Amino acid sequence: MINKSAAALPKSYLFSEVGRRVGEYQKENPSANIIRMGIGDVTLPLPKACVDAMKAAADEQLCAATFRGYGPDQGYAFLREAIADNDYKAFGADVSADEIFISDGAKSDCANIQEMFDNDCIVGVSDPVYPVYIDSNGWNGRLGKFADGKWETLVTFPCTPENGFIAAPPVGKRVDLIYLCFPNNPTGAAATRAQLAAWVDYAKTRGAVILFDAAYRAFIRGDEIPRSIYEIEGARDCAIEFGSFSKSAGFTGTRCSWTVVPHSLTVEGEPLHALWTRRQATKFNGVPYVIQRAAEAVYSKEGAEQAAANIEYYRKNAAAIMDALRGMGYPVWGAEHSPYAWVKCPQGLTSWEFFDILLKRANVVCTPGSGFGSCGEGYVRLSAFNTYENTLEAMGRIAALR
Ligand code: MLT
Repeated sequence: MINKSAAALPKSYLFSEVGRRVGEYQKENPSANIIRMGIGDVTLPLPKACVDAMKAAADEQLCAATFRGYGPDQGYAFLREAIADNDYKAFGADVSADEIFISDGAKSDCANIQEMFDNDCIVGVSDPVYPVYIDSNGWNGRLGKFADGKWETLVTFPCTPENGFIAAPPVGKRVDLIYLCFPNNPTGAAATRAQLAAWVDYAKTRGAVILFDAAYRAFIRGDEIPRSIYEIEGARDCAIEFGSFSKSAGFTGTRCSWTVVPHSLTVEGEPLHALWTRRQATKFNGVPYVIQRAAEAVYSKEGAEQAAANIEYYRKNAAAIMDALRGMGYPVWGAEHSPYAWVKCPQGLTSWEFFDILLKRANVVCTPGSGFGSCGEGYVRLSAFNTYENTLEAMGRIAALR
């Protein structure tokens, strides 16, 4: 009766476990002033342009002439067109509005997308990795048995300081579904055009599909690092991409994202665009109109400026984390095209041991690297989404530990 694969999953989702341990500590130490740099949740309010658009859209719901019921299956054209123009065409990526599906989160779509594929597919992920990719496939029984902390058929690509935390495609190994996330969660590594081109080449040669999570693309600066897999030639034939307003415009609580499924992407002759259209129509009723209007406002002149100012604020925090920790002698990566700093634990401590020290002695919350995979053991991730003042305070407390 029970879904045995789901029941075999590790009992707690990483961020729930971190939240549980922090909650327990706060309960025992009610006066502790805890600074949260664990889960990547934003702290700045929404851009004003988004809230104004949301209010105007809410007012439309008072009038029969402008009231909206069920929305279109793929999301409203006004938002899909804004995304296609500003996030793709503006960067030379060939994506049209009708290849975009509006959703309530890159997390949900990253987790749901695997429903389109056969359970015999071999899944490949980086290690460390955002746990949703693995858990969702494990849940559906695609990864075989879970024993001794490992899934039977999962292929992992180790990401270490030696390869700059960016794996090259496997040699002589079959992988059918490849999850890539750049800028990377958790390491903050950003892939170059050549690195992405190697993956596109692998996928096209092997008939594999790349599932590209671009949720952190707003943190990329300069022209060197591609913002989308579709900036790479051939990607339209082998890749699906996920984008999100969560980190780019503070929508973690407001919920709006998108998924691109190109018309040219087929597997065994089956067009994935049609299949995903069918899946969404069957299982999803869309993102509220008022939220889609708020997301559209991110692309207005004011909205774009306000969202960019928020990103710059977090980038300043990331730079402060990087400078402070490096000054203390910690090896640190990421935090340049990313809101995450990936930090080596001192003195051979495990991720959870260092997590405990930071929590109990500095009252700073991080995310233990081992929660992202075995190659994450011995690291922690610090998020730049807290306030600048708290970020500096946290760095001061960590310095005082030494
Ligand atoms: C993270 O901290 O890795 C993210 O905030 C989690 C998420 O986006 O689901």
